Amino acid sequence: MPTATPPPEHLRDEVQSVLIGEAEIAARVRELAGDIERDFAGKDLLAVALLTGTVPFLADLVRHIALPMRLDFMGVSSYGAGTAPGELVYTKELRLEARDRDVLLVDDILDTGQTLRAVIDKLNALQPRSLKTCVLLEKKSRRTESVTADYVGFEIPDEFVIGYGLDYAERYRNLPFIGVLKPEMYA
Ligand code: IMP
Ligand code: MG
Repeated sequence: MPTATPPPEHLRDEVQSVLIGEAEIAARVRELAGDIERDFAGKDLLAVALLTGTVPFLADLVRHIALPMRLDFMGVSSYGAGTAPGELVYTKELRLEARDRDVLLVDDILDTGQTLRAVIDKLNALQPRSLKTCVLLEKKSRRTESVTADYVGFEIPDEFVIGYGLDYAERYRNLPFIGVLKPEMYA
């Protein structure tokens, strides 16, 4: 388990603790990149990232994968601005051809599994040669769909986290660390 440290001064009213710090994220992202590089060696890699929460993670991850790759995005968001999962809305479709490609689907966090379940089904319908999934974070306790990720950065407890791409009502994505939002922020 990562150790919790206090957040920077200017965020003390909103952020309860730093769950995973910058250095710890960087080290783990390099490890994930290494695993992916080894598994995808010699393949025709198409990385498909889900907007918007993957942006910082994806940028760090792909720069440490020394393989030829294409990169594309799908826009998918749970309808609603809060902390509870809602109806899925596609805001951007894939632009590149996924058929016969070795696809790596990248998302920020695997929570109930509803997002990944729907996106995996949608991608499989395009007949990729293979499909693997990479998430930065995973909360195992809230799973409602049968879905697992092939690459997981960190397993975290059932707390609402923000930063390094993850948002609450579209805010906090720019924080360089992953922190626990104070429950009174969304209560
Ligand atoms: P799932 O569909 O329930 O697996 O949730 C996936 C999506 O819910 C993620 O892509 C996030 O946008 C959001 N989400 C789930 N847990 C958190 C959290 O702790 N912080 C921020 N976003 C979260
Ligand atoms: Mg998201």
